[in-house]
Amino acid sequence: MEKEVILEVKDLDVTFGEKKKRFEAVKKVNFKIYKGETFGLVGESGSGKTTIGRAIMRIVPSTGGDILYKGEKINGAISKELDRKIIREIQMIFQDPQASLNERAKVDYIISEGLMNFEKNLTEAERKERVDQALLEVGLLPEFSSRFPHEFSGGQRQRIGIARALIMNPEFIIADEPISALDVSVRAQVLNLLANMQKKRQITYLFIAHDLSVMRFITDRIAVIHKGEIVEMAETEELVTNPVHPYTRALLSAIPMPDPRYEHNRKLLVYDPAMHDYKTNPPSWVEFSPEHYVLANEKEIKEWVKS
Ligand SMILES: Nc1ncnc2c1ncn2[C@@H]1O[C@H](COP(=O)(O)OP(=O)(O)OP(=O)(O)O)[C@@H](O)[C@H]1O
Ligand SMILES: [Mg+2]
Repeated sequence: MEKEVILEVKDLDVTFGEKKKRFEAVKKVNFKIYKGETFGLVGESGSGKTTIGRAIMRIVPSTGGDILYKGEKINGAISKELDRKIIREIQMIFQDPQASLNERAKVDYIISEGLMNFEKNLTEAERKERVDQALLEVGLLPEFSSRFPHEFSGGQRQRIGIARALIMNPEFIIADEPISALDVSVRAQVLNLLANMQKKRQITYLFIAHDLSVMRFITDRIAVIHKGEIVEMAETEELVTNPVHPYTRALLSAIPMPDPRYEHNRKLLVYDPAMHDYKTNPPSWVEFSPEHYVLANEKEIKEWVKS
């Protein structure tokens, strides 16, 4: 069966600032996300992951390329109708539940604010019912709705953030490091919640993280981004067992393993971009093995095939 593409990013550029201060945060980025999958975007701090998420959400303007949602272009000028459709169908969950919730508003208001902009003729009872349902679905009690964010733990706050997204009945969720700021003890709970929501509602995720440790267990495919450029992309299993690009290898070498023998011999690889001679021999996007893509020049491909 042909897989259905829900989101496609084509040659996306995002540039900040003007003239001498111009900074290319995202450079010619390409990927497709299939309906119902979890697509991972991984790379170090400052590599442009959040910027890509924000460009999809239309929070930052793209400076080049196209973003297609269900085949329709959603970057640049779009119709009001399409804008409403994507505000509703595409939701974002943020890294820092401390900073992303309005401290002065009650949970009730926080969760239903987006919904009220859409369904203006909901009655108060219907609105409350939707909030209660959303709270229950993320594992919180409906009576929490009259409290303020500071009364909750980090994990609970993240659930509130998830309820706020869920109440819109989204089809596509950008989860931007949703567990990085949480205690290790509650990370698995939040991941399970996201996985259960996906099963129940066929949600598609763009899942952003800066390391591969969790990513390898929860994603179907992964794109690795380095300084605004995607350097490798493959199915998760393939990427973690046969990484090709030295940056992907470096990211993998940073993951601690429970096996003490392995851990004893583990070598931390360091990625040095100066190792490629891209000035004389520019790289291109190569299908290294079926559905496994890497950014490399001819010389590198020859070397990597050998090793
Ligand atoms: N509004 C902005 N104006 C200017 N520069 C920006 C803006 N937003 C992001 N940047 C820069 O773009 C680059 C990419 O930032 P981005 O937040 O996308 O990185 P990231 O991969 O999400 O990093 P992190 O893992 O730390 O969240 C950074 O160098 C950042 O300083
Ligand atoms: Mg970020």
